[in-house]
Amino acid sequence: MLPCVCWLQSILILLSSFLWTLGENCPATCLCPDPHTVDCSGRGLTRLPDEIPLDVRRLLLADNWIPRIPSDFLVLYSDLVYLDLRNNTLSHIEPGTLSTSSRLVFLDLGSNNLTEIPKGTFGESRSLIKLRLGNNPYLSIVSEDAFLGLTSLRELELERNALSTLKVGALSQLPSLRVVRLEGNPWVCNCNFANLFAWLMENSHKLPNGVEGMECSLPMDGRRVSLTQLSKDSFRECQATLTLTDLLIIIFSGISVSVVAIMTSFFLASTVHCFQRWSKGTKGDEEESEE
Ligand SMILES: *[C@@H]1O[C@H](CO)[C@@H](O)[C@H](O)[C@H]1NC(C)=O
Ligand SMILES: *[C@@H]1O[C@H](CO)[C@@H](O)[C@H](O)[C@H]1NC(C)=O
Repeated sequence: MLPCVCWLQSILILLSSFLWTLGENCPATCLCPDPHTVDCSGRGLTRLPDEIPLDVRRLLLADNWIPRIPSDFLVLYSDLVYLDLRNNTLSHIEPGTLSTSSRLVFLDLGSNNLTEIPKGTFGESRSLIKLRLGNNPYLSIVSEDAFLGLTSLRELELERNALSTLKVGALSQLPSLRVVRLEGNPWVCNCNFANLFAWLMENSHKLPNGVEGMECSLPMDGRRVSLTQLSKDSFRECQATLTLTDLLIIIFSGISVSVVAIMTSFFLASTVHCFQRWSKGTKGDEEESEE
């Protein structure tokens, strides 16, 4: 009987100390449904809560008014696997903030106030599988190298932003990409769009609604058309349009070719001439020695 009571007692002590630590580590306004999850969604927070346990793996901060994340945030919370910052007021992500996240698998920055995704924003977050960046109404610039290094990224959401153009390299450099959402952006189908269009045609299976779900506006009159109404031929004249650099390269290479041709013929002519003189000379010698 006695050993049993002792055993029960120790269990109770263990349990209560566990609950006590959990309670202590959970930020005041948040919920902690399990030891690795901190849920502060919809708490009217205007900044990140203090006292988030350092070993948190799932951090839910959606539906608040958080305007910024400190640049050392992921250095501090290096066990984070799942970070939900959806529907906050983030307008800017300091360079390096997200580039140290070696474990992060899911990142939701949708419905914020981001304006630009510069090169290297996510560094080498090789574990990242799903990245949500949709519904940022002022997001108009995504660098060609914005997602460089995200070798595991399978799902990328960029829908309903303010993108009128996107360098195709931003998508084609993602080796694991399976799903990409691009609909609801004010795409302009001018020559800048030609390469992206070609990529979309080849990768339409990666768009949840195919190319049917995407529209762009015509550069001539701003009329919006579905991408299904366009073909490679729609962008044919883009290949004929040459930029000033192209022209300079062509002219310069033309000049170099002519210069090389002139020099070569001059060299050949003088060689032939020399050879003729030389062979005449040796003939003369031979004739002389015969005599
Ligand atoms: C976004 O967050 C605000 C503030 O918490 C909330 O009132 C609103 O309903 C949320 N919007 C969405 C679409 O969830
Ligand atoms: C979002 O950004 C726009 C323009 O950059 C600004 O006018 C607006 O006040 C911002 N909204 C919030 C909630 O920060």
